[in-house]
Amino acid sequence: MRVLVTGGAGFIGSNLVNSLIQQHEVGIIDDLSTGHRQNVHPDAWLRVMDILDSNLDDAVAEFAPDRVVHLAAQASVGESIKDPQRDWSVNAEGTRRVASAAAKAGATRVISASSAAVYGEPVVVPLPEDAHKEPVNPYGRSKLAAESLLAQELAPADVDFASFRFSNVYGPRQDWRGEGGVIAIFCAKLAEGGVPTIYGDGSQTRDFVFVGDVVAAITAALKSGRSLRDGNGGGPAYNVATSRETTVDEVAACLRGASGHSEPFVYAAARAGDVDRSALSAQKALDVFAWDARIPIERGLAETCEWFVQNG
Ligand SMILES: NC(=O)c1ccc[n+]([C@@H]2O[C@H](COP(=O)([O-])OP(=O)(O)OC[C@H]3O[C@@H](n4cnc5c(N)ncnc54)[C@H](O)[C@@H]3O)[C@@H](O)[C@H]2O)c1
Repeated sequence: MRVLVTGGAGFIGSNLVNSLIQQHEVGIIDDLSTGHRQNVHPDAWLRVMDILDSNLDDAVAEFAPDRVVHLAAQASVGESIKDPQRDWSVNAEGTRRVASAAAKAGATRVISASSAAVYGEPVVVPLPEDAHKEPVNPYGRSKLAAESLLAQELAPADVDFASFRFSNVYGPRQDWRGEGGVIAIFCAKLAEGGVPTIYGDGSQTRDFVFVGDVVAAITAALKSGRSLRDGNGGGPAYNVATSRETTVDEVAACLRGASGHSEPFVYAAARAGDVDRSALSAQKALDVFAWDARIPIERGLAETCEWFVQNG
């Protein structure tokens, strides 16, 4: 297969490319705005460009992918609040253009990254795909719009497609600066010999999914003999998550064990807007393309911690 990965120089994208390239021809389109050239596998075809560039169709046609995995995005909630227009352009309009370019270039399947942010405040835990959606920030709104635009472009074309709503992804190469994920921030702090801060009482939960499991989900879906449009409920969208809640205190305890730091983390007041509980049900991904998250959090955290010690 020839697989084009937009955002292939980023955290999830570069982990995906490194795995796919063992069996497939891989192309990357990335503007290196938050991704890094040193993340790019030397055997991958790379075009450094903005997905909003008017030459996008030509670049995608040049690589001629069978499959497209669209991960390029403005991925920060904070940035989406600062500059909602840019967030909308990259995430909503950018997804429409990638989908259109993929169809014109003859790709037969497109998987596009979405987010738990499309749901807003969770009404049940774990949330199924057809749960009520009321995003609470511009990022969640642009990702929800991207899902519709993907369908609008690809449903009439002979292209199979789906949006993958990732929960809280963690693992090697995650950027801890800016917003990062709580695990990357904790690991970076531990790697420099500091003591991480937990905002809130530590009992808040998240659905932390290891990047290796996300790579496995995308790979299973790329190869699946079934159409991704098959799943019932929530349209062609899939939660990519563990379906389990883990408290921030549990993460902290695991990381202290993995890093050998005995000092307890410090606690500070909860931040406004942080939800208490969150998890996504990944049952549909299991039913349609036989994927479920396999990597125990202890193992994922140990691997992540080790990476930050070596590279942080
Ligand atoms: N990390 C998570 O926990 C998480 C959770 C839910 C959804 N997602 C989604 O997964 C995808 C990948 O996220 P990530 O965590 O790897 O983020 P990332 O910032 O590491 O990766 C995004 C990549 O896209 C590139 N990019 C950004 N804007 C671009 C543009 N206009 N044109 C071309 N390239 C552009 C960046 O340079 C970067 O390499 C994103 O769509 C994000 O919204 C991530």
